[in-house]
Amino acid sequence: MRAYLLETPTTTLNAADLAAEGILYWQLPTDAHDYAEPLEQIRRERGYVQMDQIHLQTDTPNLSELSDKFFTEHLHTDEEIRFVIAGSGFFDLRDKTDAWMRVHVEAGDMIIVPADKYHRFALDSARTITCKRLFQDDRGWTPVNRAQ
Ligand code: LAC
Ligand code: NI
Repeated sequence: MRAYLLETPTTTLNAADLAAEGILYWQLPTDAHDYAEPLEQIRRERGYVQMDQIHLQTDTPNLSELSDKFFTEHLHTDEEIRFVIAGSGFFDLRDKTDAWMRVHVEAGDMIIVPADKYHRFALDSARTITCKRLFQDDRGWTPVNRAQ
């Protein structure tokens, strides 16, 4: 994970800076045998009942629609939990002053965006990511786009 202010990339942010913004970050092992147990522990402790997997790559059929949707600034009324198992990408999150914090995530990174925090996601130059998505509620959640 590498995080910084989008407007001033030399201003780097660490996990404590993210935590001060309500964003949780953990680094888990990248090997499935090794991350299974810590992931299950987080799942149990935080009451996530559902888990699925999303995979994006250059020939994903609806990639441009998905990319547009993910890069549109939005929030959710539940947490957004992502565990990156391959590839990489950018989560942009608004800080308390409404500035963008950019968090570059890669395999082994787990990020929890709190409810009601505006954010967006973009692929990076590697153009691929695979994430496990966990949910606290079996209805899942829908994005609420920010008013233009
Ligand atoms: C989502 C991420 C991309 O809502 O923010 O799925
Ligand atoms: Ni989201």
